[in-house]
Amino acid sequence: MALEEEYGSSSADAASHHRGKVIMLAVAAAVGGFLFGFDSSVINGAVDAIAGHFALSAFVKGLVVAIALLGSAVGAWLAGGWADRWGRTRVMVIGAVLFALSAVGSSFPFAAWDLAFWRVVGGVGIGIASVIAPAYIAEIAPAAIRGRLGSLQQLAIVLGIFVALLSDAFFLNAAGTDSTGEKNAQNIVLGLQAWQWMFLVGVIPAIVYGILALQIPESPRFLVAKGRMREALKVLHTTVGDEAEQKAAEIKETLDTEHQPTMKDIRGPAFGLMPIVWVGIALSAFQQLVGINVIFYYSTTLWSSVGFSKEDSALISVFTSVLNILVTLVAIALVDKIGRKRLLLIGSAGMAISLGLATVAFTQSSIDSSGAVHLGNPWGLLALIGANMFVVFFGATWGPVVWVLLGEMFPNKIRAAALSVAAAAQWICNFLITVSFPVMSEKLGLPVTYGFYVLCAVLSFIFVKTKVVETRGLELEEMGTGKLAEPIVRRSRARHS
Ligand code: GLC
Repeated sequence: MALEEEYGSSSADAASHHRGKVIMLAVAAAVGGFLFGFDSSVINGAVDAIAGHFALSAFVKGLVVAIALLGSAVGAWLAGGWADRWGRTRVMVIGAVLFALSAVGSSFPFAAWDLAFWRVVGGVGIGIASVIAPAYIAEIAPAAIRGRLGSLQQLAIVLGIFVALLSDAFFLNAAGTDSTGEKNAQNIVLGLQAWQWMFLVGVIPAIVYGILALQIPESPRFLVAKGRMREALKVLHTTVGDEAEQKAAEIKETLDTEHQPTMKDIRGPAFGLMPIVWVGIALSAFQQLVGINVIFYYSTTLWSSVGFSKEDSALISVFTSVLNILVTLVAIALVDKIGRKRLLLIGSAGMAISLGLATVAFTQSSIDSSGAVHLGNPWGLLALIGANMFVVFFGATWGPVVWVLLGEMFPNKIRAAALSVAAAAQWICNFLITVSFPVMSEKLGLPVTYGFYVLCAVLSFIFVKTKVVETRGLELEEMGTGKLAEPIVRRSRARHS
């Protein structure tokens, strides 16, 4: 039986006990993903009311939304070095504190710049969580179920997006209509404007995350790197049972305890970085360049601009986020069975086709003198189907798989640093796509904008086909630094067969 082999335990009970423990630890770490999703989406329901409250121009309004993403790039960049210096769980606590501060600060801003500041603070927390959760989960998970546990991070992200949407809708409804009969997040609920509550409730998951981070043990790979063997063995006993000693020795072999891991270790011959780090950066970039967050950040505006009513557009957005949760379950079922690479390839092909459908539909749109887009049926319906198919393909493949790969594909010595750089690149690409969408769609039109996303999906297929190596079933101790890591993969296949 695979699990018994995995844990080297004589009894199935012991194996399932260890598995239960590991799942609990992975779930605790994934709460960071929930905050990631919640915090990056909560602004959607609040932004118009804030713009009204502070009389913001369109530019400043866009900046308040997007600036958090730059904070996330900084947070991701810093998290790797911190994680190697202070440990994975301490960095989670820092993330939780930043989330909590940002939730309170964003609820009571006295000016737009003050709000932007608190959004950046929250953004740094998001960036930190985006690095720490995949690293920690990969480092405590047994190889056989590592893909499934790593996908919990994406499940938590999409749940966070969904809960933020729901909570925003709840406070908007609680606030009721204003004198003009409109629902408005500037209206009062229990003494505060609705948009203030939208931010403030974020304190609750932040506190939960902080408490959990204080309870869970440090990653055994970090402890071995610090020469804290006794503690490492204790953790390994809970996660892998009888194989603890052997595992600790294997980890030690991949780490030079004289030399603590630092950011400099990712340097290499390929344009200053190790080839594997470039693979991580490219995977991250493609995950964003296909335009997924255009759907999550702008869909309500997009659907109303192509002719759906405001209420229908908001409903479509909720439907899309539920769809995203459901298809993540598909990824969890498949990632350890059919593997990461195959899922990515299916995803790239599916995304290219579905984005292609939306692009074709958008070629039928017209723009009136006020700049509004019009798209009659059946083209509006085709765009809707294409966009939701795109979410299905992304959510079942590239969404979770990239986070799984970033957590597991790097060798122990460079994991935190390399993941940091790749995740920072992902946040920068997310920022670029988010700020460029309104300008691109206005100046170049929706077909060209979506055509660009199609092109990125096609390129992502070629990239995965030629540069990505399957990591399913491999131990973290078997990850190489080369682009194709062939010798390592072959050695391991021989060992497993
Ligand atoms: C992935 C992406 C994130 C996106 C989410 C949507 O986690 O990294 O940017 O918002 O998927 O499902």
